[in-house]
Amino acid sequence: MSAVSPNRPWWQEAVVYEVYPRSFADSDGDGIGDLAGVQSRLPYLSELGVDAIWMTPFYPSPLADGGYDVSDYRDVDPRLGTLAGFDELVATAAEYGIRVIVDLVPNHCSAEHPLFRAALTAPAGSPEREMFFFRDGRGAGGGEPPNNWQSVFHGTAWTRVTEPDGRPGQWYLHLFDAGQPDWNWRNPAVRGYFEEIIRFWLDRRAAGLRVDVAHGLFKDPDLTDLTEVPAAHAPSPYYHRAELRDLYQRWRVILDSYEPGEFPGTRTAVGEVWYDTAETLRLYLDGAGLPQVFNFQLVTARWDAAEMRTAIDAIEGLAGGDRAPWVIGNHDVARPVNRYAAGGAGAPNMSTGLPRVGDPELRAGVRRARAAALLMLALPGSAYIYQGEELGLPEVVELPDEARQDPTFRRSGGTDPGRDGCRVPLPWTSTGSSFGFSTGSRDGEHAAPWLPQPSYWGHYSVADQIGDPGSFLSLYRAALKLRRSHPALGLGPAGRAAPLMRWLDSAPDTLVFTREPGFIFAANLGEAPVPMPPHARVLLASEPVGDGKLAPDTAVWLAS
Ligand code: NOJ
Repeated sequence: MSAVSPNRPWWQEAVVYEVYPRSFADSDGDGIGDLAGVQSRLPYLSELGVDAIWMTPFYPSPLADGGYDVSDYRDVDPRLGTLAGFDELVATAAEYGIRVIVDLVPNHCSAEHPLFRAALTAPAGSPEREMFFFRDGRGAGGGEPPNNWQSVFHGTAWTRVTEPDGRPGQWYLHLFDAGQPDWNWRNPAVRGYFEEIIRFWLDRRAAGLRVDVAHGLFKDPDLTDLTEVPAAHAPSPYYHRAELRDLYQRWRVILDSYEPGEFPGTRTAVGEVWYDTAETLRLYLDGAGLPQVFNFQLVTARWDAAEMRTAIDAIEGLAGGDRAPWVIGNHDVARPVNRYAAGGAGAPNMSTGLPRVGDPELRAGVRRARAAALLMLALPGSAYIYQGEELGLPEVVELPDEARQDPTFRRSGGTDPGRDGCRVPLPWTSTGSSFGFSTGSRDGEHAAPWLPQPSYWGHYSVADQIGDPGSFLSLYRAALKLRRSHPALGLGPAGRAAPLMRWLDSAPDTLVFTREPGFIFAANLGEAPVPMPPHARVLLASEPVGDGKLAPDTAVWLAS
């Protein structure tokens, strides 16, 4: 947050830390992170300087997709805690001034959800089946899927059910895993059900919602076949449908009905909307729909100054980082260190072909990820940091096949390694059997972490980094501290009343912009050193800049 925030909603310039609860901190020694673990690390998060945390799903779930297959939207998975524990976490976080955002998963539930189980035993055409997409199959005996849509996780998006009488029957739609049946959002009962869930968490003082697959809820009513494969995340019979506008306006009314004067203040909802071009985001950003949608420009652009600048401008021209928070990583994409080492974009959630720890190419990735962090945190608006990014954790490319849990690995027949490599439990200490991830113990022992940590993990630990001024952690802490105190940062003093950043003409491989009052950002994405722009003082640098030059893959914050 910036120092000067004249009555604007906190979320417009908040730095939010994404917690993947199963991998953050384990308080009871079962090898799975939990809510009490998060609570125990609030001092760390407070020292880091974040304004809020977003917790990915911690609800009861068979874990067909890391908890994004919810079997009860209004409870806590007993392996992770209790509802009372959630309330305690929210209350303790508030003492640190930290808000808690929860994940809402409205596109699909778990195949174990009671309403889906009821649909399975109900007849075709029944109200129970109308909560989902049940259709007869095509071809002889209905043995072919009802249309040609593909699952995001590979293979057909349909699974055939066995009817209660034992015969093969209808098929149900799942844009993701077979364990994640899609809700039918044209059914008013589904709308009503989710409005209660939203109120349930906001009543428990959640500061907002992160809305999973926010672009996917409505489907073309005819479920027509695709005539061609749409470009990734482009509008299609199942993405970016106009009906979303009305739904999100209704949700906004609910969010805005909460008392803004009391902590946690106005409530936000940030949509996970993957898009092909920035224009596609207009549907969400025009008018009073979701307060925010993620801005994935720094994830999808290549490590190239011209491309980055165009990517940044594309969103700034639409809405700005107050409504479209910046990110460089999350639990679905390869870690920035490896991704930027490989040049940036491509298929951001594929860890195939990425350099690994020990490969010389990774060194450039480390520098680039540090520079990218300074870029993200200098841009106007809000930013999200994924746990471990502040430690410079690399993608664990070398996870053994038998350890992999992401359904994409299984559904692709092992050709797509999936996203486990960025979900390995955090290292808190230099040594120890789980590098401090599990603190509680059962009879002095604790179970192995649910994903194996590599032997080198201790080098990245909080303990190793905390006293080292050159560490990733020190860079993040310094950046967040400056961001809080410098009037130009966050949304700046002017809010959106004035241009929030101004590009300066600069050498081809560089990015240089100013923010008022008195701030200059400069980065060199090229291969040769360049002179720094005229300035009064260096506030922060991702690499040493003693000679007045910006070395390759270096970013600086300057006082003008
Ligand atoms: C996006 C979530 O971030 C991801 O982890 C999940 O697999 C899909 N949505 C499906 O819920």
